[in-house]
Amino acid sequence: MISQESISQIQSRIDIIDIIGNFVKLKKRGANYLGNCPFHHEKTPSFTVSPTKEIYKCFGCGKSGNTIGFVMDHEKYSYVEALRWLAAKYNIELEETATSPEFKAKQLESESLFIVNQFAGKFFSEKLFQTEEGEDIALSYLKQRGFREDIIRKFELGYNPSAPDELAKTADKLQYSKEILLKSGLLVERNNGLSDNYRGRIIFPIHNQSGKILGFGARIIKSNDRAPKYINTPENEIYNKSKILYGAFFARTAIDKADECLLVEGYTDVVSLHQAGIENVVASGGTSLTTDQVRLIKKYTNNLTIIYDGDNAGIKAALRGLELALDEGLNVKLLLIPDKEDPDSYVNKIGASAFLEFIAKEKKDFILFQLELTLKEIGNDSAKKAGLVNQMAATLSRINKAEDFTKRQDYIKKVAELLKIDEAGFNALVNKIVGEKIQKDDFRSNRQSSMDGEVVGEQEESFEQEMLLHKDEPQEQAMARSLIEFGHLEWEDGQKVADYIFKQIDEGELLDLIDNPIIVKLINLYRNLYEEGNEPDAKTFLYMEDAELSQLMLKIMNDDLEISPNWKKYYEGHIPTREELFKQEVDSTLLYLQLRKIKRLIAENQKDMENTSDLQEQMLLIQTHHHLKTVEMELTKKLGTVILK
Ligand code: GTP
Ligand code: MN
Repeated sequence: MISQESISQIQSRIDIIDIIGNFVKLKKRGANYLGNCPFHHEKTPSFTVSPTKEIYKCFGCGKSGNTIGFVMDHEKYSYVEALRWLAAKYNIELEETATSPEFKAKQLESESLFIVNQFAGKFFSEKLFQTEEGEDIALSYLKQRGFREDIIRKFELGYNPSAPDELAKTADKLQYSKEILLKSGLLVERNNGLSDNYRGRIIFPIHNQSGKILGFGARIIKSNDRAPKYINTPENEIYNKSKILYGAFFARTAIDKADECLLVEGYTDVVSLHQAGIENVVASGGTSLTTDQVRLIKKYTNNLTIIYDGDNAGIKAALRGLELALDEGLNVKLLLIPDKEDPDSYVNKIGASAFLEFIAKEKKDFILFQLELTLKEIGNDSAKKAGLVNQMAATLSRINKAEDFTKRQDYIKKVAELLKIDEAGFNALVNKIVGEKIQKDDFRSNRQSSMDGEVVGEQEESFEQEMLLHKDEPQEQAMARSLIEFGHLEWEDGQKVADYIFKQIDEGELLDLIDNPIIVKLINLYRNLYEEGNEPDAKTFLYMEDAELSQLMLKIMNDDLEISPNWKKYYEGHIPTREELFKQEVDSTLLYLQLRKIKRLIAENQKDMENTSDLQEQMLLIQTHHHLKTVEMELTKKLGTVILK
């Protein structure tokens, strides 16, 4: 854990214009800055950054967030990774709190592995370019295959000399730890000594999202029946095969731009396509796609195009990837490379522009492709066709996210057509499978929640739902906003606004009237901090790791980044600022909650009236009704004079 102290230090140093300016060209426009949105393609800038609020918002695609959020989104970092990046940028030493010795040891091991890999990467690259053996054997091989020098350097390709222990000796001289060298897979123990693991091989360094070397793929130069074509780094603290996509570091911006990720099998495919100017490409490394890899892709785009060899093995591997990708909500297209070629050899054969055309023309919708392929296979066998109908229904039921509903309906129509079956019947079948799945999930999550005592579910979704559910949201938000913005101002007689608000809240039990639990959480958290002598403000909440809170804060702050065009029309001359009117604002938000309480009491009272036949009781209820109505009217009147609209 990074200490609160360090987080505050980073917060106080953050200059949002400086940080975002690293990635987006910004121009000053009044109090704000404007640029082209890095998250969607646009020609006229609608990406706005407010330096005073320390938030950004794109009026084109709607994306918005704080500085840390921007770094997380743009660089695909976790919260902690973003903090580390910012700390490094501002030369702030991070204080880590409450780390267990095991955690520290692991972290130390990771750092050591990165350091050793960096050293080795440089070593391999020098051997490739600056030794006779490297040039004669490895560089010439790469060049003969058509790789340009700039691309070889960009991907930091290298060569491990064929002598048994050149790397081992250099590492020993530099006093790298034997244990780490073995864990990195660079060296192996042989005859009581250490020797190089990748002797005589071409080296493909494998980078993480920020360009640091996680491990290596080492390719044999002359094919050899006994030796494997590639040797890879063994699983260790930093190299987890199932979480790695080769080339992701170099493909990042291109994937964002194209809003599409091309997936190939091999390292050389990635490098060759880059050389041809097709940069939105990553490789799964010869194994079938994993859930972690799919999630990695989904960070960048929803559109995945799998480019595999057109042989049976390639198709089978691709089909395995499909289900996973559908589960994660990706749109999957498939492109098969013909004639026993792979993307590397094919792009070399037909050239870059023909290859691009080939992609555009030949890529197929994966689901329909799967269907056509199987239809051809089974011919007129009706039993097999029934099996296929069920299989397709199962595949389509995987598209079950609310956002993808139309997509599923489109598929149902097309698939029913291709299968020549009744669309309504097929639709019912898909829905049945979806229903069964939901029941299963419900069962699972119920069991889970009874186990750990709280309801589990998709956090983001429930947050969105909360937001949608409450139509009184703006008023509730206004309440939180006046507390955060004006809390430290003086109300009267040395009493602060926050004191006044909390007194009103306690007396009227107003918190019970707020529907959105996140707003309640925010107010309670403010109160804790305030009563401990802190002065929380918007940024305190904006930079919290709790995504619900920081998103809510963002929403509240965004409110007046969107300047109402009508506003100026109503006022000639001086427009009173919210700061000048803060007392009215505080009172109106409190009044609003009180009014809501009265309305609820009136509704309850009315229900009671309907349900009772006892005359005595009815009289009493009518009296109450009149009383409540009077209070309601008073409150409405007060509210009317307070709100200056
Ligand atoms: P070239 O033949 O040089 O073009 O390499 P390639 O990347 O096209 O190799 P290939 O198509 O044979 O394999 C695709 C990917 O599978 C490779 O990039 C490797 O990641 C992986 N792979 C292939 N052979 C081996 C092997 O023997 N061992 C391991 N660990 N991985 C392999
Ligand atoms: Mn190849």
